[in-house]
Amino acid sequence: MSIISMSNLYKTYNTGKVKVEALKSIDIEIEQNQFVAIVGPSGSGKSTLMNIIGCLDTPTSGNYLLDGEKVGRFKPNRLAEIRNWKIGFVFQNFNLLPYATAYENIELPMIFNGLSYKKRKKRVMELLERVGLADRAAHKPTELSGGEMQRIAIARALANNPSILLADEPTGNLDSVAGGSIIEIFRELHRDGATIVIITHDRAIADNVPSTIKLKDGVIVDSLN
Ligand SMILES: Nc1ncnc2c1ncn2[C@@H]1O[C@H](COP(=O)(O)OP(=O)(O)O)[C@@H](O)[C@H]1O
Ligand SMILES: [Mg+2]
Repeated sequence: MSIISMSNLYKTYNTGKVKVEALKSIDIEIEQNQFVAIVGPSGSGKSTLMNIIGCLDTPTSGNYLLDGEKVGRFKPNRLAEIRNWKIGFVFQNFNLLPYATAYENIELPMIFNGLSYKKRKKRVMELLERVGLADRAAHKPTELSGGEMQRIAIARALANNPSILLADEPTGNLDSVAGGSIIEIFRELHRDGATIVIITHDRAIADNVPSTIKLKDGVIVDSLN
């Protein structure tokens, strides 16, 4: 079964008198354990698509099934619930809490979802190991490198065992070495069964991801599986 299934999906922004058709006639099927890159020039609709996939926004028309659930027209609070449980987000700017330690940043989504202290501790330590930063648990973001911050952000995204990991330009603020190590972590997670969708401008990264969806002017112009 597809984990993400979109058919004939449109997104139109109405800003005053201007109407922007950001996505047009989008059909996408993403299977469990696929690793997909969304590529395309600036303004082609990548972030709009990512926001809809991640239930941060809703389509103007068309169908969207996430994990078999019709999310297209859900109310905001139901969308928030889906985001908490099913989706792990990774952002270009890491979005870590500056005054919290690496440990606390990873723990926070588990507190929101009501996990016990003991279970949280076990899971946080597993995730720190997983991203190779067990020895940085007590560090604050300012005491970490960019690549390390992004690894902590990935661990946080995985906190509640999401069905899918979404990353919008996750290497955009990193040098090529740190960026490469982030992509390597995604590849390992993918090998272990994760479903991953990343937006990237970086040709070298897109070439290292098994599937690509190419957008231009809100339309899918190329899809390589
Ligand atoms: N909130 C918004 N309101 C109005 N127009 C928007 C909004 N967000 C994006 N757009 C427009 O939609 C198009 C696609 O934007 P976006 O999805 O951000 O592209 P990308 O991420 O590929 O650069 C652009 O023309 C952009 O100006
Ligand atoms: Mg964008």
